[in-house]
Parts: sequence; structure tokens; C-alpha cells
Amino acid sequence: MTTRYLVRPGSALKGRFPVPGDKSISHRSVILGALAEGVTEISGLLEGDDVLATIAAFRAMGVLMHGPDQGHLRIQGVGLQGLQAPQEPLDCGNSGTAMRLMAGVLAGQTFASTLVGDVSLHKRPMDRILQPLTAMGADIHSQDGKAPLQIQGKPLTGIHYDMPVASAQVKSAVLLAGLYAQGETCVSEPAPTRDHSERMLNGFGYPVSRQDHRVCLEGGGRLSGQSIQVPGDISSAAFFLLGATIAPGSDLLLEGVGINPTRTGIIEILTRMGARIDLTALREIGGEPVADIRVRHAPLRGIDVPPHLVPLAIDEFPAFFVAAACAKTPSTITGAEELRLKESDRIAVMAEGLRALGVPVEERPDGAVITPASIQGGQVDSHGDHRIAMAFAMAGLVASGNIEILDCANVATSFPSFPVLAQEAGLGLDLLDA
Ligand code: S3P
Repeated sequence: MTTRYLVRPGSALKGRFPVPGDKSISHRSVILGALAEGVTEISGLLEGDDVLATIAAFRAMGVLMHGPDQGHLRIQGVGLQGLQAPQEPLDCGNSGTAMRLMAGVLAGQTFASTLVGDVSLHKRPMDRILQPLTAMGADIHSQDGKAPLQIQGKPLTGIHYDMPVASAQVKSAVLLAGLYAQGETCVSEPAPTRDHSERMLNGFGYPVSRQDHRVCLEGGGRLSGQSIQVPGDISSAAFFLLGATIAPGSDLLLEGVGINPTRTGIIEILTRMGARIDLTALREIGGEPVADIRVRHAPLRGIDVPPHLVPLAIDEFPAFFVAAACAKTPSTITGAEELRLKESDRIAVMAEGLRALGVPVEERPDGAVITPASIQGGQVDSHGDHRIAMAFAMAGLVASGNIEILDCANVATSFPSFPVLAQEAGLGLDLLDA
């Protein structure tokens, strides 16, 4: 079933609430919990479709789990050598993280497995993991560098890999394969990317060292089960940071949001544009920095997004495009060609959607120039991309008429409670079945 959103303009966002668990950290807690020895207890887990796909995959490989129930998941870890051959292809749904990270794990098993996903995932590049994993000795058959991936587990050897793209998924896939490899595996990144894998491996008692842009681990160690509290997802909070910033009269407190410095690019970008964002109650939860974030309405000016902030805000560009459309002066994004390889081509789809609402956008191969204009009512197609749907839902706060957003069901991949939380905060949002 496809779901449409209808958003009525004119309200402000108010209130205080926690945002759901971080998707990246949730995936990693399930994967490492399954591969650890002993019990892992997770709280605050994101129960979105992407993470549920990772849970189902490890269940299909014989890992016993209790839950998830209200963010709690209890995993009876099987140890690094304890997975069993799955009887069916493992379905990663819409999730690039599930597919790429699991490919790293499966490359070093003693059995064969197949990874499949939805139409969007089958269009996304997997050669970026195939290249380093193959260099480690992996045997993976793809369809011209795309899923389905047929993996015949093999003994692996550690490598030193210089990543050509700044990708946390590639880094994590190689490090996870490195757990099974003989010798040392190192990954160098061209720019800092999210470091949740490294932090969590250390938290599970598996030493990972970092020197500048290079992370290394030694194969053949062990993980021991942990208690993990997953912080709120800054990538989900981003839509509320956007909405409260652009809608006059707004004042929100988002509780318990992860503020890992490899993820806070959107806070820096919005702040540079003039947003009123205050971090309070800074603390550390499960090895990750966390804060409550207060955001109030503020007028915005356009910026040229500094390229070094691109990987640190990589999932937040749909929200940024809308913020830029609401600013007083134009904004430019460069060095962001990776956006074309996400759940949709986010440069093309955001440009198409904003133009449909009367905002001029000049598309470039690696970014865009957004010229602010008053946002009109109209219809936009999210092309099944969760973050595009949520960004346009927030644009509806300040439009001159209703905005209808098509193909929104995938919001459930990362933020199933978005419609309810947004309505409670004041967004005039109706869900319509197509
Ligand atoms: C993720 C890394 C990023 C991000 C994705 C989640 C992760 O992808 O866009 O939503 O959990 O490692 P890339 O590694 O492709 O940049």
C-alpha cells in the first residue's frame, strides 16, 4: 500500500519529546550483539523496518532474540563462529546499511548466503564493498555491482584499504570482515565518517585503534555481550530542527539526541544559517555523546555548504534543501555527488519537488543552487524516499497552500512514529491511502 501525506500550512511546532533510536547504532547493536558471546540487552532500539530487516536476517541465521518490544531487544549472542547457514535469501528491504554491513560479516563465514532487497536497494552501488571484500579473499557474485549478492563464505586475509569515497558503510563492512580475517585490517577514510562501528566494537571489548583518518583491528578476537542504550537519532531530529526553525512561533525540546561529532553537520549548517539551536544536558550514553536540543524559530540566510560538512550531514540534505528554500539568500551545495546514490537520487528528487512548489533549483552533478522563494502548495513525489517525504512534510508548515506528498510508506524504515509525533507537535498532517 502506498501512503500519501497531506500537509496544511500555518501552524507552529511546540512541545518536548524524545526522538526514536538512532538507525545506524541500532543496526550495529543487533549485528554485534548477534556475533558476541553471551547476552546483549538493547534499549532505545529503533523499531523501524530497516532495523527489523537486520533482526530478521540474524534470526534466520539461528540467533535467538527476544523482542523487540518498546525498544528492548535481548540477543543471545552466538559468537563470531556461531552463525548458521540461512535457508532463504536474507531480505535487507530498503536498507543499504543492512546489506553492506552484513556482506562484510557473511564474506567470512563457512556457508553460502544471498542478500536481496527492495527495488531501490537493488539500484544502489555494491561495488564499493565488493572491491575491498574481494581483495580480502571474499567470493561475492553481484549483478553488475548491484544486489542480489550471492556470497560464498571464504577464509579472509586482512588488508589496508584506502577508501575512495567517504563511506561509513564501506568502512564498517571492511572492519566487520576484518573480524574474520587473518592479520590486521585497516581502513583509511578520505574524510571523517560516522564512527559508531569503531566505538561499539570497543564497547564489546574488541580493540579498534585509530590514528588520524585510519582505523585498524586485528582478526581472530572475541566480542562479549553488552548492555546498550541507543541514543535518539539526530537524522530523525533533523526534520524537527527544520520545521521549528522555519515555522514562526515554534519552540521544541528534542530529548536524548545523539550528538556524535561525526553526525552533527546539520546543527553546524543550520546554525551558520542563523538557526536558534541550543544543546543542553550534555551527557554520554553507551559510549556516545547525547544532548537535549532546543530549537526555536529564526530567520535564515543562505550559505555555501563547506564540503567538509557534507559527510557529517550526509543524510540531512533533504532537510537542508527545504531550509535553503526558506532562507533570505541563495545557498549552494558542492561535493555532494554521494546524494545521488541514496535511497533515491536526492539531488534530482529534491530539485524536482522544490520546483513543483515554485522554488527555483539549479541542479549540478555534485550538488545544487537553491534560490529562496515563497513555497507554494502543490504535489510532490518522494519517490519512496523516507527522508524526502519528511522534509517536504515540514515544508508544508510555511507553504501558501496544502502540500500533498506521494509515496510516503517508507517513512516507516527510519521513523515509524513520525506522523504521530509531528501531529502532536502541531503539524497539520493527514495520512491518506492511495
Ligand atoms: C550509514 C552511513 C551513510 C548514511 C546511511 C547510514 C551507516 O551511508 O547515508 O544512512 O549506518 O553507516 P554511506 O556510508 O553510504 O555514506
